[in-house]
Amino acid sequence: MSRQIVVGVAGELAPGQRKLAFIDGRSLVLFNIAGTLHAIDNTCPHNGASLAGGQLEGCMLRCPAHGLRFDVRTGCMAGTGGLSVTTFPVDIVDSKVVVSLDEHDATPSHARAGSAPS
Ligand code: FES
Repeated sequence: MSRQIVVGVAGELAPGQRKLAFIDGRSLVLFNIAGTLHAIDNTCPHNGASLAGGQLEGCMLRCPAHGLRFDVRTGCMAGTGGLSVTTFPVDIVDSKVVVSLDEHDATPSHARAGSAPS
């Protein structure tokens, strides 16, 4: 079961923009990628760095700490490292941006396996 949390209003982020949201002590980053909103946990699965300030190249976000790249749409790391960042479903409900906090449904189980690169 997931909880629906309002994190903003529809249209506040233009394509390519992002914003931080703090919910129940956790930090999420909301991205507008080509007109579609995506939400990820603000913690890099490699070593815990904040992803909010990472460089965005299309749908790929580069962690500012060590440069690993993650697909904001799926959370999956580029290449074969096997790490993934937690993603959260985003919906527009009554002109509000709503994030569903149920990370187990949002992150593909195959993406959680694997070892961290050194
Ligand atoms: S903490 Fe993100 S790549 Fe190392």
